[in-house]
Amino acid sequence: MILAARGPVLLAPSMNVHMLANPIVQANIEGLRALGYHIIDPGVGYLACGYEGAGRLAEPPDIVAEIERAVGPRDLAGERVLVTAGPNREPIDPVRFISNRSTGKMGYAMAAAAWRRGADVVLISGPTALPPPHGVRCARVTTAAEMRDAVMREFEAATMILMAAAVADYRPARVAAQKLKKTGGPLLIECERTADILGELAPRKGDRYLVGFAAETEDVVANARRKLREKRLDMIVANDVSRAETGFEADTNAVAILDRRGRCDVPLTTKEAVADAILDRILAVRRSRRVAGESAAAPPRKVAPKRRRPR
Ligand code: CTP
Repeated sequence: MILAARGPVLLAPSMNVHMLANPIVQANIEGLRALGYHIIDPGVGYLACGYEGAGRLAEPPDIVAEIERAVGPRDLAGERVLVTAGPNREPIDPVRFISNRSTGKMGYAMAAAAWRRGADVVLISGPTALPPPHGVRCARVTTAAEMRDAVMREFEAATMILMAAAVADYRPARVAAQKLKKTGGPLLIECERTADILGELAPRKGDRYLVGFAAETEDVVANARRKLREKRLDMIVANDVSRAETGFEADTNAVAILDRRGRCDVPLTTKEAVADAILDRILAVRRSRRVAGESAAAPPRKVAPKRRRPR
């Protein structure tokens, strides 16, 4: 059946660790890869034969993600998408920090959706409890300063930047070297501003598509529109975090997407569906810009290598 198949073929090898390491098997896998078969690499761990090592069948959700990427529209092929997600932690002393309630779910959903649609994705994540999405290169950071440095390192290569992180705006001006001891009086922590990462990117953005996220509790759209203008973004995604079903810990969201063309509302749905709606809107805006002949059209797209079909 595989020899006769005309569509993409995905193979998820799974076998004994020594069998997998055998040069004959390795040469066969590389041969299949070169012929255009898509290999889903096996995992490492306990094997059915009792050995430990490489050879575990890839996890079923990861196989599903690979299938979705292989048979999906691949409308982000050639894009290099940089996503930030999650909160920051700004240390007060060795045991305490200031943070916020972001869980990273929206940013992780954005990264997973972009990868599924064919992009190369790097995710710069603050501390979250989420596993990195399959296929996505994930860099973990803690503070806003670390997030800024990581973003600056990845920025040049990116064609699209999705800043979903809830970046800390302030950090304690001094970090105590030892654990602070309680006293009879109140504790005052003097804080200083952190760098505005998006604010720094805007003047250097060139043809990159820059998307901000505005988490608001009042005047949601008006505040987001102001940030779109002031931060000179291509797009901002506004969401009301005061409501349980669109807030930080929810698996659902409802957003208003604002850009120079106007406003597009995404009613309450899963964060995965919101992520796809945001990507759809970015592609639609860029297409219309290209039609209008604007200089800010899409960056030159690397043409995805043609899948060679087994005859
Ligand atoms: N952001 C950033 N660097 C910061 C703060 C925010 O890059 N130091 C980014 C966020 O990742 C988000 C956008 O800016 O994409 C808007 O974040 P938000 O916190 O809503 O806006 P602020 O500019 O911080 O405004 P305020 O906190 O006053 O509402």
